[in-house]
Amino acid sequence: MKKGFFAGILAVVISGVFVAEALAQANPNTLVNQRKSAMALQGKYFGPILGMVTGRAPYDAAIVQRNADYLTVITKLAWDDFQSTTAGAERTQTKDDIYKDLPKFKATADAMQAEVQKLVVAARAGDQAAVGVAARSVARACNGCHEDNSNFKFRFRIE
Ligand code: HEC
Repeated sequence: MKKGFFAGILAVVISGVFVAEALAQANPNTLVNQRKSAMALQGKYFGPILGMVTGRAPYDAAIVQRNADYLTVITKLAWDDFQSTTAGAERTQTKDDIYKDLPKFKATADAMQAEVQKLVVAARAGDQAAVGVAARSVARACNGCHEDNSNFKFRFRIE
């Protein structure tokens, strides 16, 4: 019992060391993979909400609320992976221009997160009309950043 406990602690300490190591090295291809994964999860949990508010899928308030709650965290994950060391990396669709003004890029991300917070409030209140307005604002924030800062061609259909 006790042995298992200490082994557990040791495992946590060791994995902490590996995490610190990974952060220190910050391999550019790892950063690109991580931010793409975070973006993909944003799409996974936001896409169905937009589909429901635009009438392409039946509205399910419980799923809307769950996905919106997930998005409060998921929409925070990508941003620290946008580092200037990834300029010119393979398999990235990010325009290198963002590294000339990273605070501006981060402000665009913050604006999107503010729209996500409005979506969460509306979803928790069970206010379908407000969810419709907020989800469209989130979609515009996704589309706008992709338009300005990436070669990623997909755009959310807002109508
Ligand atoms: C502040 C800018 C910004 C915002 C806001 C933003 N994205 Fe992105 N997104 C990017 C950039 C830049 C890329 C290209 C990433 C790369 O290839 O390095 C990208 C790529 C993607 C991809 C493709 C990932 C891949 O595997 O190639 C998806 C999916 C995506 N975004 C979904 C979303 C969704 C959904 C939202 C809104 C909830 C969103 N993004 C908001 C900047 C943004």
